[in-house]
Amino acid sequence: MQNLPKVEIAPAKGRLGILTPGMGAVATTFIAGVIAIRKGLGAPIGSLTQMGTIRLGKRTEHRSPMIKDFVPLADLKDIRFGGWDIFEDNAYESALNAGVLEKTLLDHIRPEMEAIKPWKGVFSRDYVKKLDGTYIKTGGSKWDYAQMLMEDIQRFKEEQKLDRMVMVWCGSTEVYMKPHKVHQHLDTFEKALKENDPAIAPSMIYAYAAVKMGIPYANGAPNLTADIPAFYELAKQTRTPLAGKDFKTGQTLMKTILAPGLKARLLGLSGWFSTNILGNRDGEVLDDPESFKTKEESKLSVLEEILQPEIYPELYKNIYHKVRIHYYPPRGDNKEGWDNLDIFGWLGYPMQIKIDFLCRDSILAAPIVLDLALFMDLARRSGFQGIQEWLSFYFKSPMTLPGLYPEHDLFIQHMKLKNTLRYIMGEEQITHLGADYYEFYK
Ligand SMILES: NC(=O)c1ccc[n+]([C@@H]2O[C@H](COP(=O)([O-])OP(=O)(O)OC[C@H]3O[C@@H](n4cnc5c(N)ncnc54)[C@H](O)[C@@H]3O)[C@@H](O)[C@H]2O)c1
Repeated sequence: MQNLPKVEIAPAKGRLGILTPGMGAVATTFIAGVIAIRKGLGAPIGSLTQMGTIRLGKRTEHRSPMIKDFVPLADLKDIRFGGWDIFEDNAYESALNAGVLEKTLLDHIRPEMEAIKPWKGVFSRDYVKKLDGTYIKTGGSKWDYAQMLMEDIQRFKEEQKLDRMVMVWCGSTEVYMKPHKVHQHLDTFEKALKENDPAIAPSMIYAYAAVKMGIPYANGAPNLTADIPAFYELAKQTRTPLAGKDFKTGQTLMKTILAPGLKARLLGLSGWFSTNILGNRDGEVLDDPESFKTKEESKLSVLEEILQPEIYPELYKNIYHKVRIHYYPPRGDNKEGWDNLDIFGWLGYPMQIKIDFLCRDSILAAPIVLDLALFMDLARRSGFQGIQEWLSFYFKSPMTLPGLYPEHDLFIQHMKLKNTLRYIMGEEQITHLGADYYEFYK
């Protein structure tokens, strides 16, 4: 077998700091999970970096190592956690409040969780209308806040003796924003920071602090944040990987599993109605129409891109796609998502599919945070910079290089991710169409 040249990868030595702006349900479920897993109290289910394998070479070679043994990733024991919030609760209190994990589990790891105390957040109600943060930085311009965040990061690095860091946005969804002219270039963006321009949302200030310091940045929410030319420019300058947006969990995960199957079998779709009830803080924030709009845009784009109505007009031209989210406090973090699909088959005969997903949002999101942090760190050590499309697997609205359409099909995304790992390690890419196939049939 012919091996390709390997990418130069710096070793994963020393400690990795994972920074999370926002220490709510997702962030604390992730942090508590990693600490529990380190202690043998649970398994990292749902995490490709911890449980996934990767096939190498031909099937006859029987080489399928664990991904974590194949590529050099940071070890869970070397991870340290730091973050910001607009409420003062430590990670233990916040996890209890989120109500995702059982108190008995949290009590096993209470001292470690209590030691993780958020730093004061950068926040304004103009961007998240439903929250009234009390634990926030004051008395500066947006530029000054960026400097304060960088000081927090530097202090964390020194105190925890970290070698490397990554940032994963786990804060609330901000109001819908379109790219603005100040977002087009780094110098106009920096000027806007200094002038407190309303086109700069708090999430952008965190992302700026990270990317300026060369810290890989992944966006777990649908906010525009780093998906603007000013950040592509800064990422290039500081050779920093970027990824986003919006963790692909729950209903959209189901959509990107099912829609490629319908398309593969050329079954038509006339409508897809999705509705959710959820009762956590995220649900409360999304009850505001402006934050919901950001989420809605992110959820709606998926079907169109997968089903390609311009190529299959007979099957997918007139899809009625509707997405609704309802805040319903009794349900807490245990969301319920209902989907009704109106499909049609042979000779146009209609059929229906109903899905009722009793899902746990943060349980699905936590392994994504871990994988993103470890793969973004790998990307940085491999010399990759800018948008990391190979991590689209994890996102509802994958960031793409300018001018390209995003890939939403989970299976194509999965193949792309694994082929990137093979590429990094100088192994042949797998296309499932080897020369041996032709040998056999000729
Ligand atoms: N499966 C999922 O749960 C899932 C999936 C996709 C995306 N997301 C997104 O991930 C984010 C986190 O979700 P969650 O369920 O943990 O929500 P959450 O409300 O429990 O946590 C968000 C936290 O961010 C804090 N926050 C808000 N603005 C902040 C700021 N400017 N600086 C620092 N902290 C800030 C809030 O106080 C809160 O503690 C949301 O944007 C959500 O839409 C979650």
